[in-house]
Amino acid sequence: MTESKLWGGRFAKTTDKLVEDFHSSISFDRILYEHDIKGSMAHAKMLGRQGIITESEADQLIECLQGILQDINAGQVEFEVGAEDIHMNIEKILTERVGDVGKKLHTARSRNDQVALDIRLYIKAQIKEVQALLLHQQRVLLDLAAEHKGSIMAGYTHLQKAQPISMGHHLLAYFQMFRRDYERLSDCYRRADALPLGSGALATTTFPIDRYFVAEELGFSAICENSLDGVSDRDFIVEFISAASLIMVHLSRFSEEIVLWSSNEFGYITLDDGYSTGSSIMPQKKNPDVAELVRGKSGRVFGHLMGTLTMLKGLPLAYNKDMQEDKEALFDTVDTVKKSLLVFAPMLATMRVNVERMHDRAKGGFINATDAADYLAARGVPFREAHAVIGNLVKLAEDKDVALEDLSLEDFQQLSPVFQSDIYDYIKIEKCVAARNIPGGPAIPAVEAAIASGEKWLAAQQA
Ligand code: ARG
Repeated sequence: MTESKLWGGRFAKTTDKLVEDFHSSISFDRILYEHDIKGSMAHAKMLGRQGIITESEADQLIECLQGILQDINAGQVEFEVGAEDIHMNIEKILTERVGDVGKKLHTARSRNDQVALDIRLYIKAQIKEVQALLLHQQRVLLDLAAEHKGSIMAGYTHLQKAQPISMGHHLLAYFQMFRRDYERLSDCYRRADALPLGSGALATTTFPIDRYFVAEELGFSAICENSLDGVSDRDFIVEFISAASLIMVHLSRFSEEIVLWSSNEFGYITLDDGYSTGSSIMPQKKNPDVAELVRGKSGRVFGHLMGTLTMLKGLPLAYNKDMQEDKEALFDTVDTVKKSLLVFAPMLATMRVNVERMHDRAKGGFINATDAADYLAARGVPFREAHAVIGNLVKLAEDKDVALEDLSLEDFQQLSPVFQSDIYDYIKIEKCVAARNIPGGPAIPAVEAAIASGEKWLAAQQA
């Protein structure tokens, strides 16, 4: 018999050192310590109230756990690889400190429902933190959008100039993406918000526990309704990593635009020196490393999503040790998404938008061609025909190496007699933007309405 392990009773030999290192999770699950201790305190309190242990035993346990929490916070506790994971490390310290009563804490509980509880508490806390970072980013975007509601820039499809918009309008597209990200996290929170404790190893317990009391103590709005599901459900982790993956997709697309916009070819923005880095050989270089790194880091989050799905897909009910692999994936996802959001918002807030250059660059590429077609269509020419007329006009302008507005009225009228001299005003770039005063569109009043609606949404989340 080897009593050094909390589960050592039925073992005749000690664990091989290689195995001990291999299955120990304390190096990474230690970050769950606060949730683990809070969960144990609620469990002890419930055991006392239910008469499963005495009230005074419960008090002793709770007091000692409180002390352990303070000591870990103060950096005064060393964990042991041999004690396997955070749950058994804390239980071991508890018993060392409080004596035999410490051994009563695990009554009516299993590490299976304990770890499920810890990660749910962790994920609930982290969702709130990621959401706060998203809201901060939303704030920055709304401010920038207001500042640049009239800053004209080219809108693109296929990365070819398409129709003119404003920088404000473009930025508001990201506002919508991050808004959906926020809402997805709220949705994930709802499902993480159920108490697994009381599920036991898989089949609850013979003791008269009160799961609703523990749920209330720990701030859960429901309990897991099936004990096997309670210990084997990791859907909320997949959902979280999936929501995080979409945040990273959005940040990565945005990063790609930051990289493009800050290039010499575009020159739409200049990143602040504090958010750019240089080259060890090329003295002129100022690189958008922050955006590139965020774009690059998206890959690891997508990897964690695939890894977690794959880890889960073949597991029979209920708990299997494979599930210990959920943690590093989850923790690294949280870390990556938080760090990315944290650095992205100030990078945006400090960048300079080169309004004139952007306006100038918007003029080329026959960006007002749709408007010229609309001019004819608005005057009764069927749009398909108008489209063809303007196609010919673009060809003519291309041959002459000029913009549409540089063609003579004779050139215009040669292709369609419907053109009058007001065409020049109609296809001015500012007019093209202003004419799209449709809800969701780029005209200044439409952008202002979108900002107002964004402000309302933001205030509602912060209320
Ligand atoms: N460290 C384990 C994990 O993270 C805790 C649960 C262990 N349960 C067990 N039956 N071995 O999954």
